[in-house]
Amino acid sequence: MTRKACVIGWPISHSRSPIIHGYWLERYGIDGAYERIAVPPDDLPSFFKSLGEKGYVGCNVTLPHKEGAFRAVRVADAATTRLGVVNTVFHRDGELWGTSTDGEGFLANLSDHVPDWQAKDRSVVILGAGGAARAIVGALLDAGCRRLLVVNRTLARAEELRRDFGPRVEPRQWMDVEKLLEDADLLVNTTSLGMSGQPRLALDLDHLPRSAVVTDIVYTPLETDLLIRARARGNVVVPGLGMLLHQAVRGFELWFGHRPEVTVELHDLVARDIDPGFKR
Ligand code: ATR
Repeated sequence: MTRKACVIGWPISHSRSPIIHGYWLERYGIDGAYERIAVPPDDLPSFFKSLGEKGYVGCNVTLPHKEGAFRAVRVADAATTRLGVVNTVFHRDGELWGTSTDGEGFLANLSDHVPDWQAKDRSVVILGAGGAARAIVGALLDAGCRRLLVVNRTLARAEELRRDFGPRVEPRQWMDVEKLLEDADLLVNTTSLGMSGQPRLALDLDHLPRSAVVTDIVYTPLETDLLIRARARGNVVVPGLGMLLHQAVRGFELWFGHRPEVTVELHDLVARDIDPGFKR
């Protein structure tokens, strides 16, 4: 029987997950399908109740349903409990379970581009304190970072992260950000600044050591202004698209029983969907 999974959101037309999972289904010759389903917020509880009856083995969850999904399923692991959001839902033993794969997607993307980079004992500057930042903070702490300076326009949200994740998280004011770059081993943008259609991320990189790695979770454009400027001054940069690709790996494995590979071919397929002019 054809196994079916899907991605749900509201709206959902922008999701690139069908391209990713469709590529893997074809590559591994699996009898499966991956669909896109628009679910209005009020319909979320009934959607999850009937997921199995409709023949789905699970789904990805995107905006605005990540918190709602967390409440609707059994949470599969402590790291996800701490986050309070779920992006991957799967059936096991007659029950619906949920997990978050954003943190591992972030780390896998980093190690894909900079295999020698180790999180252990490093000092990190994170811009932003929203949902994406939470997943990344959790992953970097678990990987052994020494300290995480979380810089956010709304300081209270950075303080919340410290409350939830402990004293290695240090909340900082946005106005101090440039000076804070001085002893960063890694700089991560988790804000929407620099995304197509959003304001640019105006950040002077003069204080950032050239040895620091710079990464951005924004992948539209594929290479943000932050990454272009960091690369130009000699920093190693890690574009955000790989995080999207790597966060999809565990869902595919849970639903279709095969751990898929993030290939260059897959990267370029999605990159061309974002920017038809993309060339390697
Ligand atoms: P996500 O789940 O994608 O992280 P989010 O929870 O809305 O989305 O978080 C967006 C992040 O971008 C936040 O850190 C937000 O800062 P605030 O907490 O102060 O809102 C940040 N952000 C968005 N627009 C911004 C802007 N114009 N200037 C500075 N930070 C901005």
